[in-house]
Amino acid sequence: MIINSFVEETENRFLAGTYQKIPVVAARADGTKIWDLSGKEYLDFMSGYGVAILGHSNPVISNAIKKQLDLIGISHGSVYSPARAEFLRNIMRISPKSLNMAYLSNSGAESIEAAIKIAVKTTGRKKIIAMEKAYHGKTLGALSITHSNKYRKAFEGILLPNVQFVKFGDSASLLSLLKSGDVAAVFMEPIQGEGGINFPPYGYMEAVRETTRENGTLLVMDEIQSGLGRTGKMWAHEHWGIVPDIMTVGKGIGGGIPMGVTIGKKEFMESLDVGEQSSTTGGNPLACAAGSALIGELESGMLHRVTTMGRFALKRISEETEGHRLVSQARGMGLMLAIDLRVRFVPVLMELLQMGLITLYSGINTIRMLPPYTVTEEEVNKAAEFIRLALNKQLNK
Ligand SMILES: Cc1ncc(COP(=O)(O)O)c(C=O)c1O
Repeated sequence: MIINSFVEETENRFLAGTYQKIPVVAARADGTKIWDLSGKEYLDFMSGYGVAILGHSNPVISNAIKKQLDLIGISHGSVYSPARAEFLRNIMRISPKSLNMAYLSNSGAESIEAAIKIAVKTTGRKKIIAMEKAYHGKTLGALSITHSNKYRKAFEGILLPNVQFVKFGDSASLLSLLKSGDVAAVFMEPIQGEGGINFPPYGYMEAVRETTRENGTLLVMDEIQSGLGRTGKMWAHEHWGIVPDIMTVGKGIGGGIPMGVTIGKKEFMESLDVGEQSSTTGGNPLACAAGSALIGELESGMLHRVTTMGRFALKRISEETEGHRLVSQARGMGLMLAIDLRVRFVPVLMELLQMGLITLYSGINTIRMLPPYTVTEEEVNKAAEFIRLALNKQLNK
């Protein structure tokens, strides 16, 4: 029988140390709950970094995967696939009408890589603008438009040279850069995720849409974290009534099977010629079947649930933390939630793990949460109480 310590020691020994590990062994899961090998139960408000959006071991998704696996699990993009065709019909149905062609890959970063190429080839321009505090992934192209120095510094010199960062929310400096007429694309997350759940200020999204259009620059919305209903709308950019030229989708889109989607206007997507972008397993039938099952569930009243449960979660977290000496703000939209602390998050996060709540974090003092959309009121109540208790424990140290 294997035990938690064996798993931890083995990973620490053989797995490249690129992840900031937390002392949790996820052996099995159901809905919002995860159990380790000793039977310890956790509430999972991390959801595999926002992937398990319909809860772990969701029977609809599991059955779709099993069924597809028995039919055919893999077929290359050069071969036609019924599962892929069905997925494409589904993703088109839930996407803005004008975004009518997709490229399928295996991760968020890959969907960004494709978007960079499409923007450059469509416009014939080489400059890209991205946002301060943006996160788009860690492959070299995606890293080039990711802002954090922590991730970039070892690779400066081999990143894309023509990238400029502007302050998220500052439309004046964006406009002055766009006026040069040589910017291929503006990349942005409608709500910054890794950057700390940052919302755009009033009028900003509309201004970005207008100025990019006026200057022949493509607007690429990275919906990898904020999309697929996370904020209560299918795509977060819908909250501002705008439509991007290209959108990137990842995380939960493959129902837990790795998948990335770059979706855009046909005229832009067609700029890539045969062979200019591909991936052996991109758009594989397994991910497509799981993705179709996921979309079906999202369309069955799930977005409404995210809105109501999100409001409830923010209310409960605010009630438990308001006026607390260690908390400066709780905020969120749908089930994309954050608490800014006046202290470093590490001891609080570790205390929460002890109690049985897994969360995410941002920067040095933000606790971030992306619970599954299937989370219950009871689970939210428990998590909110854990947060208060963990904060109190810190206060008394
Ligand atoms: C907004 C955003 N873009 C891109 C990515 C990169 O996705 P992946 O880790 O699947 O490459 C992430 C991952 O957290 C993300 O949140």
